[in-house]
Amino acid sequence: MKPDLSIVFANVKFKNPVLTASGTFGYGYELADLIPLEKLGGIITKTITLKPCDGNLQPRVAEVTSGILNSIGLQNIGIKSFIEEPLEKLKKLGVPVIVSIAGASVSEYVETAKILSCQNGISAIELNLSCPNLEKKIVCHDLSLVQNIIKEVKKISKIPVIAKLSPLVTDISELALAAENQGADGITLTNTYPAMAIDIKTFKSKLSTLKGGMSGACVKPMSIRCVYDAWQSISIPIIGCGGIMTGEDAVEFMLAGATAVSVGSSSLVSPINLIKIINEIEDIMIKKNILSIKNIIGMVNKNEKNNTCS
Ligand SMILES: Cc1cc2nc3c(=O)[nH]c(=O)nc-3n(C[C@H](O)[C@H](O)[C@H](O)COP(=O)(O)O)c2cc1C
Repeated sequence: MKPDLSIVFANVKFKNPVLTASGTFGYGYELADLIPLEKLGGIITKTITLKPCDGNLQPRVAEVTSGILNSIGLQNIGIKSFIEEPLEKLKKLGVPVIVSIAGASVSEYVETAKILSCQNGISAIELNLSCPNLEKKIVCHDLSLVQNIIKEVKKISKIPVIAKLSPLVTDISELALAAENQGADGITLTNTYPAMAIDIKTFKSKLSTLKGGMSGACVKPMSIRCVYDAWQSISIPIIGCGGIMTGEDAVEFMLAGATAVSVGSSSLVSPINLIKIINEIEDIMIKKNILSIKNIIGMVNKNEKNNTCS
């Protein structure tokens, strides 16, 4: 029997749990000639802001051992142009579309969410809470700011709101719970990890911004731990993200408690990896005789009740 890969996340039905990670797949429709986009579970767009944004100066991407360092700086065309063109094309793909947004203030998040909320064809909003705010601090480092953004966006949004959190906090469970308490319909764990790499030929940083965010295979165990920890304390669903390169990696995240996964660096290496990951999940299910992918969500939590300090 063909295993059932479908999941329900924040009341939205996805045919499989594999989504594109924000910022690593453009606006989401550009690669239609390269891969069958209709086979994806869903598309999370790059982060959109109220006004267009040029992003940071080059170089803003550097390859490091088992990972990628980036400081793109939220380059995007702004919400008005996004609605005029990319969104129209996205609506025609026949897969759920989640639009990632960010702002330099609470009111910018709210304004952008309000505009999106009036559009058809958007399944959810993902709040990128891992970008720098006005004081150039990561939003997630200010708990009351995180709470305020979620609370205010939830007041006006007619569609589900997903909070994408930074892993660089003292207690990810506390942050996840705060998101849930403000009404978030789900969370994404995690965004990139603050990092730096230096070119020993030039003695300069590999990025124009000196520091950036780390992603790729090397971050996977840390992100899985974040999912595992958050899953213990919240009841809203989690999109697991960070270093998913194969179907096995995706299954690991789901065993830790993720309902869906989003894949970034792997699709930058080759976009077809997204389809391979879906097929590999199906192969694992057949081998393990798992009829529905929903049955494995958080299974490691149910099996392992040993709370160690590590
Ligand atoms: C080049 C690049 C650009 C990214 N842009 C965004 C973005 O615009 N918004 C966002 O929320 N995350 C962004 N991310 C983070 C990814 O969505 C994802 O959280 C992170 O890369 C970890 O997943 P991965 O290891 O599968 O890449 C970006 C990552 C990369 C590598």
